[in-house]
Amino acid sequence: MRSVIDILDLSVDELEEMYRTAIDIEAHPEKYTRACEGKKLATLFFEPSTRTRMSFEAAMYELGGHVISVTGAGSSSAAKGESVADTAKTVSHYVDVIAMRHPKEGAAQVAADNASIPVINAGDGGHCHPTQTLADLLTIYKEKGGFDGLTVGLCGDLLYGRTVHSLIHALQRYKGVRFVAVSPTELRLPEYVKQGIDCVETASLEEALPSLDILYMTRIQRERFDDPAVYERLKDSYVLTPEKMELARPECRVLHPLPRVNEISVKVDDDPRACYFKQVKNGKLMRMALILKLLDEAERDPLPAAKPGVRTGKVCRNPRCICSVEQEPDFRFRTDAAGRLRCVYCEAVPE
Ligand code: NCD
Repeated sequence: MRSVIDILDLSVDELEEMYRTAIDIEAHPEKYTRACEGKKLATLFFEPSTRTRMSFEAAMYELGGHVISVTGAGSSSAAKGESVADTAKTVSHYVDVIAMRHPKEGAAQVAADNASIPVINAGDGGHCHPTQTLADLLTIYKEKGGFDGLTVGLCGDLLYGRTVHSLIHALQRYKGVRFVAVSPTELRLPEYVKQGIDCVETASLEEALPSLDILYMTRIQRERFDDPAVYERLKDSYVLTPEKMELARPECRVLHPLPRVNEISVKVDDDPRACYFKQVKNGKLMRMALILKLLDEAERDPLPAAKPGVRTGKVCRNPRCICSVEQEPDFRFRTDAAGRLRCVYCEAVPE
């Protein structure tokens, strides 16, 4: 049985197979209307969401399954102080698969460690968001036919933008992909994401635009700032307008995970290069493909996966990590490519 916490939990070949499934679902939805009959999905969303939660729910309904959900920390026992581990153990008795969004980094991994059913990470703090990446990848696949050799611009809040982190993880496995990271200095990519990628950093969108095959715009993540004054100063750093789009190549495609605040003018929406509403549709199709895959695997191999990493006696002190709030956290670490220990939940290096 497998959970999807990071996009790297899915191999390149598995992703290819999922694009094919998603495209088949789009062409022949009637073939899939009973595929998950008798199965239930729980959406546990402890942070705001429109697209991710609704598309998971629509995906399960379109597969003939059922959905039960928790929205907002205030309406579940999380408000009484229940741990993620206990919530996951409990919900495992009610449903067949969990999609979880949580403000703490690594929360979905804790859920997967304790659930007896597959867990899908629907966003863990400023860390990862693998199912948004599924939407992004299918969009790029359909628009570009593949990923090798693409120059991908990532613009906005690259520090806290979890969709960017997962997209980089996914694309770094393809040949010759180059990244241009456009952000204010304060919001540059975290070092664990930059490791081993071909990336140039700049603060100028205008400078980057002419070289890009893909421009991935993001919102400045207001909810992650410790100091609201810093958010106020940075919030309008980049606004994509029709005038700026004149600098982009005709083959460039503009993506955005949404919601947009004001970083893309609505006037850009009619530009044929704008793909952000196509991403929305692709997100539902890929979530359908993912639910199908995980439920099928769980049926054939119901044993829970081993917990990742090892105990070392060290503790993670990252205040954004789920370890900072879980009861008696199970501190586990794995060694990265550079030989450093990293928390399996948030990827911070322990002190
Ligand atoms: C993103 C998220 O939640 O990280 N939204 C989404 O799931 N499509 C992006 C964002 O909130 O800026």
